[in-house]
Amino acid sequence: MPAEYQVGILGGGQLARMSMIAAHQLGVKAITLDTDPQSPAAQVGPAIVGSISVAADIAKVMACCEYVTFENEFIPANTLREACELAGFDPERVTPRIDTLETIQDKLSQRNALIAAGVHSPRAVPAVNAAELGFPCVLKSRFGGYDGKGTRYARTESDYQAIMAEIDADGWLAEEFVAFKRELSVMVCAGETTSCFPAMVTEQTNHVCDLVYEVEDASVAERAVDVAFAAIRAVNGQGLFGVELFEHSDGSISVNEIAPRPHNSGHYTLDWGGTSQFEAHVLLTIGSFYGPRRGELTCMANLLGQEGAKDYLVALRELAKKHPEARMHWYGKAEAKPGRKMGHINVCGETNSVKWASDARVTFYKAWVNQ
Ligand SMILES: Nc1ncnc2c1ncn2[C@@H]1O[C@H](COP(=O)(O)OP(=O)(O)OP(=O)(O)O)[C@@H](O)[C@H]1O
Ligand SMILES: [Mg+2]
Repeated sequence: MPAEYQVGILGGGQLARMSMIAAHQLGVKAITLDTDPQSPAAQVGPAIVGSISVAADIAKVMACCEYVTFENEFIPANTLREACELAGFDPERVTPRIDTLETIQDKLSQRNALIAAGVHSPRAVPAVNAAELGFPCVLKSRFGGYDGKGTRYARTESDYQAIMAEIDADGWLAEEFVAFKRELSVMVCAGETTSCFPAMVTEQTNHVCDLVYEVEDASVAERAVDVAFAAIRAVNGQGLFGVELFEHSDGSISVNEIAPRPHNSGHYTLDWGGTSQFEAHVLLTIGSFYGPRRGELTCMANLLGQEGAKDYLVALRELAKKHPEARMHWYGKAEAKPGRKMGHINVCGETNSVKWASDARVTFYKAWVNQ
């Protein structure tokens, strides 16, 4: 008997939500998994209530789906393997591969895999051995970090000692500090053929992605793509990946980290008029994607929770009135905690889309807070 759903998406946040919307558009039946019955993804499609950390809950998704993918790298690889056994589900039908997820979800093993494959990436050691690298260095939680949570800077040895007194050092790594010029990102699609979306600049504020726009210099973009492809080969990648890169002042490119899923830096593709990263995600999961169709230049601005934020609809109306060029994507999260990713705005096809997107965001924030 054919499975009830073609794609099971483990997780129910904004990435699962936007993948679900793409699945609907493609006519692919999908279902998500989250503990919250009103999760962002559950608001737009079928969902199972359960935890991505519990094998029996993942097995429920596997029992009704032909293929499985996930929206974050935090599901322990062994829990996924256990779920496959419980459900009698072929692990080959999980995209990206479980082995790839295992390498990536530990930032230390990810670094070691990149370096072993000759991919330029900062050297990393267990946090207790930071002295081998010297200072400054960066301390990172090996598992579970996001939006800079779990990233600390040790400028000096005494900074390092102070941080070590606060953390559980076993779960942390130390890596070389990179005095990068800019941060870039390339979304890689590894299927029958390997392809990618354009190289983007990702401006971060307080460790959170803020603005995303296309790399102008073709030779920088080409180098970024080469390094991103090498990074995905290094982890035997299959599926959709966001590769976060450092551009150095000498023009070289190194890898910060790989996200085995849709990525914030690819949200602009929802409006650029070409293939969206979420379509690519769904099609890669069912095993049939042969490269994105290009769209227009676009800038994306993230919308973060603000202190004193009030009625969203009031702010949306104001945005629609003042900035018709801005396309809104709201995630439907219950609470707008300051700094939390609540949605994003895309502005397409404008030569000054970065300014337009930034201005539209200011309008939105003002209307959201000052009501
Ligand atoms: N080795 C480094 N040297 C200098 N800055 C770094 C280094 N590693 C990370 N950073 C800075 O910290 C940010 C967050 O680091 P990283 O991407 O590893 O963590 P994360 O919490 O998983 O990130 P996110 O969820 O934002 O992608 C990077 O985008 C970069 O600005
Ligand atoms: Mg990162």
